[in-house]
Formats: sequence, structure tokens, C-alpha cells
Amino acid sequence: MSDKILPHHFIKMKKKGKKIVMVTAYTYYQAKVVDEAGVDGILVGDSLGMVVLGYPSTLPVTMDDIMHHLRAVVNATPRALVVADMPFLSYEVSREEAVRNAGKLLKAGADAVKVEGGEEILDKVEAMVKAGIPVMGHVGLNPQRYLVLGGYKLRGKKAEDAMEVIEAAKALEDVGAFSVVIENTVAEVAAQVTKELRIPTICIGAGPDCDGQILVIHDVLGLNPTPPPFARKYADLYNVMIDALRRYAEDVRKGAFPAEGEYWSMSKEELSKLREKLTMRKDVKE
Ligand code: KIV
Repeated sequence: MSDKILPHHFIKMKKKGKKIVMVTAYTYYQAKVVDEAGVDGILVGDSLGMVVLGYPSTLPVTMDDIMHHLRAVVNATPRALVVADMPFLSYEVSREEAVRNAGKLLKAGADAVKVEGGEEILDKVEAMVKAGIPVMGHVGLNPQRYLVLGGYKLRGKKAEDAMEVIEAAKALEDVGAFSVVIENTVAEVAAQVTKELRIPTICIGAGPDCDGQILVIHDVLGLNPTPPPFARKYADLYNVMIDALRRYAEDVRKGAFPAEGEYWSMSKEELSKLREKLTMRKDVKE
């Protein structure tokens, strides 16, 4: 597709001061809808562990889980940039594993991969970029590290922690990342990173002064009854779906579904032929 959005377009958008819009998607129709709405980037996030598979965290998510949902999204042939999240332990162990796993995601149709962390993973990010794999960083709150971070805490409240987030983002740019997600971080820190970096910042719960924003699709559409406080709900699909399914159940129970036009009938001629055949069978009641 000629107007397909690629990683370098994100950098161009930052240069032009054009805000970047991203949202997660995990299925074929989600990707279709997101693309038709004109969103710039789709993340096949490891958040699927929670919002699709019902796990308590992103830690159990596997490469196979991401591949499965990535294929569904790619089959929608979106114009939007497709970023595949690298799940916990698919890139931390060695540069070789990081390159091999990221390569699998690109071969399955991703346009880029995303990894969580700063200093600890720079050599892996560098190796992936050298192998020709566009990498999106992810700093601030790293949900894959919630156990060592002491929970899903807001980042950057204290100057020392703020410096850690800023330095992590700068280091990721230095080793070749094309953009960086900043999650659950005070707005002043995200603004500082945005000012210092040439590559775009895509924020989630990190305030308005970023080059773009990303949200989980379930939170945007109201499919998650308990969204995080930084998300904004643009529809109430959870209740829309309950209402639709209740009305469907009611119609089935009272015989109102299916109605004429919602099923097929035989022609009169074929029906009379069938009746004739049936009467010839002694054991079948009409
Ligand atoms: O997995 C995900 O959905 C994410 C976003 C929260 C950025 O990483």
C-alpha cells in the first residue's frame, strides 16, 4: 500500500508537529475498525494477557500469544504502523534471542517491535536495530517489571527517579530506537523527554506534552469496566454488548428469532417432491 505508515513517518510527524495517535488492537476486526478511524499506529500489546486472555499481569504472555494476535491484525492489512510487543523474557536473555524473536515478529508482518526498559536492554535494542528491526522503546512504568518496581507505580515524582526515566529514553534514542512509549509518568518528565529527543514520544498516562498518545482499545471503547484513571472512555461497549445479547436471548426464548428473511425455504415444487418421498417411507411420520 503506497500510503502505508512506516517507522520513519513517525519521526517526520514529530518534525512537523503532527500528533501521533496509537491504540492497541488484537483481532482482525479491531484492526479494521482502528484503521478505518484513521489511527496512525496499532500496538499488538502484551496487555492482551489481561484484556483478552484474563491473566492478572502481562508476565504469562508468550511469543505464540503475540504471534497469534499479530497475524489477525496483519490480515486486516492496516495502513497504520503495526508494532508488536515483545513479551516478557523474549528479549532480555541475550542479543541473539532478542534478534531472533523480533525477526519472527517482522516475518509475521509487524512493522516494528516494542521492548520495555532502559539501560538493562540497550545492547539488545542496538543488536535488533543493527539487524534491520525498527524498535520502539518503553520507559517510565514498565508493567513487565512490576515485581521489581514494587507495583504499578507512577514514575518520575522524585528528581532522581525522573532523571532515570529521562536518561533511559535518551539512551534508547542513542542506540537507534525510532520512538519511545512513556507510561504512567509525571507530565513534567514526559515533556522534558519530548523536548530532548529527536524521536517521538508516545504517552500513556504521562500528560499532554508528548508527540503522541496511546491507549488500550478496551479502555477507549468502554469494554473494560475498570479502566485506569488516565484513560478516557469514548463509548460504553460493555453495556451496549450486554444489552444486545439480552435482547437476542429474549427473542430466541420467545420464538421471535429467526424471523422471515433470516432463514431459507425450499421451493413449493421441491417441497411437494419431498413430501411425496416422505410418504413412501413407512417409518417416517409427517
Ligand atoms: O501492552 C500494551 O498495551 C502497552 C501499552 C500500555 C503501551 O504496552
